[in-house]
Amino acid sequence: DKANYRHFMAKEIHEQPEVVGHTLARYVDMATERIALPVKLPFDFKDIQRISIVACGTASYAGYVGKYWIERFGRLPVELDVASEFRYREAPLRKGDLAIFISQSGETADTLAALRYAKAEGVHTLSVVNVATSTIARESETVLQTLAGPEIGVASTKAFTCQLMVLAAIAVAAGKARGELSDADENRLVKGLVEIPRLMAAALSTEPQIEKLAREIAKHKDVVYLGRGTSYPLALEGALKLKEISYIHAEGYAAGELKHGPIALIDENMPVVVIAPHDKVFEKTVSNMQEVAARGGNIILMTDARGAAEATVDSLVTIVLPDMASAFTPMVYAVPVQLLAYHTAVVMGTDVDQPRNLAKSVTVE
Ligand code: F6R
Repeated sequence: DKANYRHFMAKEIHEQPEVVGHTLARYVDMATERIALPVKLPFDFKDIQRISIVACGTASYAGYVGKYWIERFGRLPVELDVASEFRYREAPLRKGDLAIFISQSGETADTLAALRYAKAEGVHTLSVVNVATSTIARESETVLQTLAGPEIGVASTKAFTCQLMVLAAIAVAAGKARGELSDADENRLVKGLVEIPRLMAAALSTEPQIEKLAREIAKHKDVVYLGRGTSYPLALEGALKLKEISYIHAEGYAAGELKHGPIALIDENMPVVVIAPHDKVFEKTVSNMQEVAARGGNIILMTDARGAAEATVDSLVTIVLPDMASAFTPMVYAVPVQLLAYHTAVVMGTDVDQPRNLAKSVTVE
């Protein structure tokens, strides 16, 4: 049931600190601050030359973040595909390599077909699924479950952040197995993961501010989302979430791509949501924000206290998230991104949990 929430989506957004915490507890050993995958992998990351990550929709954006983490911590090349493309383009796969499939339902037709293709090609298959009894789980060589619990709202929220937690654990495990991370690196990264549920809970306290902002966003026909690094897939996710439940047109772009076309859209009417934790690429994103500001765009900046202090740009609204030392910001920044879509949809009066034309599980291609 919806407990005291108006919609399942609201309940599921608010559940995230708890369920991401459960997922964390399944993948790390808190006592030793080590990654401890619940199953023994039938391969060694040292022998893998390339990983293919395959998923649809929101799960594919989790995969996109996972790609950045696995490449950074494991120094292992990762290719990301949406399943509908992967299955028909007959991507050449090397026997013994690894393909990762991400799916909340575990029943998505294209993702399942992609899994079957990968198996036939002789690669190891690992699925990150929420429904343990699903077809994708049953047919995968290895299953790493997300412990999000049943997700009822059609728009995926808690499954996404739990997928990110599992992918973070995979990335650190890969880095460790490949000798790219030391024991101390692993401890530091695991400490960063252990902080996440608390930081997500803190991020939920931006809700009153976001509710107000949503009334402004609801007046617009188009919204642009920008991000760099792991905030780029989150920009894609923010735009998808807004589109699917509020029916407001939105686009997510890599902040550096702005000047290659989309900047033509920017005028004094365009809200631009900039997702910019104070990380390695923060300065670069600030210069993209300046380009937006110079054209009168209304900047909604999602950053931390340091970022807010250092961003030399006038924003319409700055949403301040907790300062984070780790690279795991997408799990925390997902919260305001989801809340913004949710509250905008509520203002628009749409059917938040059952948006038009959408089904929770897409079992036809
Ligand atoms: C977006 C959304 C969809 C799903 C996609 C994959 O909010 O819910 O984009 O993420 O259909 O579904 P699963 O994860 O069940 O394979």
